[in-house]
Amino acid sequence: MVSFIVFGASGHLAHKKTFPALYNLYLRNTVNRQSFYVVGYARNYIQPQGEETKIYDEFIKRVSYFCGQYDQADSFKEFNKYLQGLEKSTDPSKSLRIFYVALPPSAYVSVGNLIHDHAYLPDGKTRIIIEKPFGDNYDSSIKLKEELHKKWKEDEIYRIDHYLAKDMVINIPTLRFANPHSLDALLNNHHIKSVGISMWESGGCEGRVGYYDINGVVRDVLQNHMAQIFTVAAMDEPKSEGPDDVRYEKVKVLKATKPASLKDSILGQYTAGQDKPGYKDLEGVPKESKATTYVATTLYVDNERWKGVPFVFDSGKSMSKGKVEIRYYLKGKDSGVFSDVNQDHYISFTVQPNQEVTLTAFVNKPMSSERSCVNASLNLNFKEQFAEEMKHKRDAYEILFEDAIKGNPTKFVRYDEVEYAWRIFDEILDSPTQPLTYPAGSNGPKESEQYLKSHLKLIQ
Ligand code: NDP
Ligand code: BG6
Repeated sequence: MVSFIVFGASGHLAHKKTFPALYNLYLRNTVNRQSFYVVGYARNYIQPQGEETKIYDEFIKRVSYFCGQYDQADSFKEFNKYLQGLEKSTDPSKSLRIFYVALPPSAYVSVGNLIHDHAYLPDGKTRIIIEKPFGDNYDSSIKLKEELHKKWKEDEIYRIDHYLAKDMVINIPTLRFANPHSLDALLNNHHIKSVGISMWESGGCEGRVGYYDINGVVRDVLQNHMAQIFTVAAMDEPKSEGPDDVRYEKVKVLKATKPASLKDSILGQYTAGQDKPGYKDLEGVPKESKATTYVATTLYVDNERWKGVPFVFDSGKSMSKGKVEIRYYLKGKDSGVFSDVNQDHYISFTVQPNQEVTLTAFVNKPMSSERSCVNASLNLNFKEQFAEEMKHKRDAYEILFEDAIKGNPTKFVRYDEVEYAWRIFDEILDSPTQPLTYPAGSNGPKESEQYLKSHLKLIQ
């Protein structure tokens, strides 16, 4: 029997992602419907809402709510009794409790301790899933790890980063390492001059100002989602697909990476533009706020494969469009009959909005008897090639919850990945001065255009 407990059931994430993902696990029979329970835990009572289908009605009977505090032992003792009631007809050794902690990070330690003290299954299995951010800098992440490790074993802790379960992110190792044409043979400093990793969001910070103003873009996405994409894009082939071998290779990349510096970064904050409000126009944002909503920065990996290749990151809210992409820019040819034709060529993995792999290439323009090289692209588009599968596309949270239930932590983040990632970004977490500005709906601060061009060593 599986009890999936959602702490913070009244929250934004629970509403947007968690409950839909749990419902889909049930709908698709990924979990055994007869022995799956979902219990929301929150301080406020909430009323479930949703479409009325037969399976939804069945599912909703398996969902219940428990109203309790996050810092009081009595609440957790009562909650344990409540869970025992659900589990009463099950062999205790076959019970699994998954506690998904989708709360503000300040509550993690207290909730983690109280779960372990009062709601841990002595005979069955208990796992805790923790939402990002894991700490708010290098030092606090170490403290958080130490506090959690006092009670929890590392293999019971599942640190979630939903980017690791996006289709294209799962596919990067496959594309790199599974193919006999060995795309990966190009991905090193002999052939690649630079790598761009972008995460642009067209949406702004509405509705999450309290969280965002303290955290900013570096804590919100660079230290976690983008750092995870980076490790997958730069790692060597792991010995196996098991969690230890994969994460060992990812940690090796982070360990070899020199920390980002403020003087080689651009930090920005959006102002009003294209009928969209500026960051400081949002209710609750202090007028003197220095929160950064845009960042561009460059990292170097000091290993044999990547020495000298800049990894250039840029990410922002309220940008002209939404896109998440990794681009490996190829070095030009400096000898041979075609060495005179030179343009920026790249191999890219697009994570969002579409899932695509693109390889740009010179071709001779059709119908031309003269030599006339033009840039074209070879493109693999998941929507076109996997039309049927893409109709039943699963959300990343659904995939990760399934993995946590099955006990596979490969797509979850190990404590050392978290620590090394904080170490890399510690210097640029906060802007010491007012960030540069950019209008909502643009491509970031005007200074970023030249920054990206020069750091990526672009010709055009
Ligand atoms: P919310 O701000 O909606 O908070 C979740 C719940 O936590 C609230 O419903 C409330 O429940 C409780 N809560 C609020 N403030 C406090 C407090 N000071 N102390 C204790 N409990 C509090 O957060 P989200 O749902 O947006 O996010 C939850 C976690 O998930 C965070 O760690 C966030 O960083 C992470 N996350 C969020 C994403 C998103 O898109 N929203 C994306 C990825 C990660 P009640 O008072 O009813 O008990
Ligand atoms: C969350 C960040 O972790 O990821 C949000 O807190 C961001 O600010 C979100 O918008 C992006 O996720 P996705 O899946 O919508 O690209």
